[in-house]
Amino acid sequence: MFSKETIQKFQNTSTPFYYYDIELLRKTLEALKKESDKYGYVVHYAMKANANDEILRVIKSFGLGADCVSGNEIKKASEHEFEHIFFAGVGKSDEEINTALDRNITCFNCESLQEIEVIDELAKKKNKIAQIAFRINPNVNAHTHKYITTGLEENKFGINLWELEDVVMRTQQLKNIKIVGIHFHIGSQITDLSAFKSLCMKVNEIQNWFASHNVPLEIINVGGGLGVDYHEPNKNPIPDFESFFKLFKDFLEIRPNQKVHFEIGRAIVAQCGSLISKVLYVKKGVSTSFVILDAGMTELIRPALYQSYHKIENLTPSPLPRERGDSQQAGGVRYDVVGPICESSDCFGKAMMLPETKRGDLVAIRTTGAYGEVMASQYNLREKVKAVYSE
Ligand code: LLP
Repeated sequence: MFSKETIQKFQNTSTPFYYYDIELLRKTLEALKKESDKYGYVVHYAMKANANDEILRVIKSFGLGADCVSGNEIKKASEHEFEHIFFAGVGKSDEEINTALDRNITCFNCESLQEIEVIDELAKKKNKIAQIAFRINPNVNAHTHKYITTGLEENKFGINLWELEDVVMRTQQLKNIKIVGIHFHIGSQITDLSAFKSLCMKVNEIQNWFASHNVPLEIINVGGGLGVDYHEPNKNPIPDFESFFKLFKDFLEIRPNQKVHFEIGRAIVAQCGSLISKVLYVKKGVSTSFVILDAGMTELIRPALYQSYHKIENLTPSPLPRERGDSQQAGGVRYDVVGPICESSDCFGKAMMLPETKRGDLVAIRTTGAYGEVMASQYNLREKVKAVYSE
């Protein structure tokens, strides 16, 4: 929801841009801390969701760790002085591993024996011991979009259960590696919490296996994935962290000296961001009308890539009486809302209900704080997208 003053500010700013509501970000972080601190859980921010410096500054001030997936994310996390840095990713390059070793990160989340052997070799050259967690593929269905499901055997991520024994035994022989934990991540935008319950059950079994093989673990990292409400951002601006963390408290069996870690991205930043754009043209098609925006898939690729829904609001509704037409229904007109890029997939939503819309109107594409700005590209030699902050 935007105040009159905010909309006025938008009108004097060139579009498109991301707008970040910093107060909402703070409230979200307060809620997250309140619920996770109840159980002594350690939360890392999955920086891939949004690596904007202003956003990182706010998140860092709440004492979260950083979950990084590239050498550059590690550099950024250490510039911002995040306390703990974890390094995940199925394809860590030698250069990135060296960056991580030089910065003495807390833990490498490792996805194969070959990767662990490379880390061992590079750590040896630097006379260092690298702490690692095994990223294990638990084969748990997250019931989310197939492109953002990661914990099934068919996915490229993690060490499969049947190879675990061999990987652990061989890792124990490496001199420059210290095993500190196990790591899981089953997917993203998970709204059915029962998927996390299934994960807990799997982790309990796997923990028994490690205990029976006398491999001590300090870090039980259950990843991220908590979903947000894309349909009703005003009703549910802050995710239900209470139920989320309580579920782990209820179902995850923890041994003495173990800490539970999370890597949360979307749930922290999604709702605080909106992509603000101006209507360039309204064009009548054969069966529908198009609203053509000055923002496109170059600024927000999620609808084109995952067919994801984002609520779209016209912030400057027409003062004129509405045109009558077949597509008109109570409360508005249905439009296909599209961008200016030369691709048919450059579409933010089909048959979206909006008040009658005209050239020059301002539009907000909601819930775009996560995987929005970070996934922007300069395809068609577009300008780099700008950001504006509430404070
Ligand atoms: N940990 C690992 C190992 C991950 O791969 C991810 C996300 C996270 C944590 C954070 O997950 P979150 O809490 O944000 O769900 N671009 C896609 C989402 C890709 C997620 C990739 N991994 C989208 O726009 O929906």
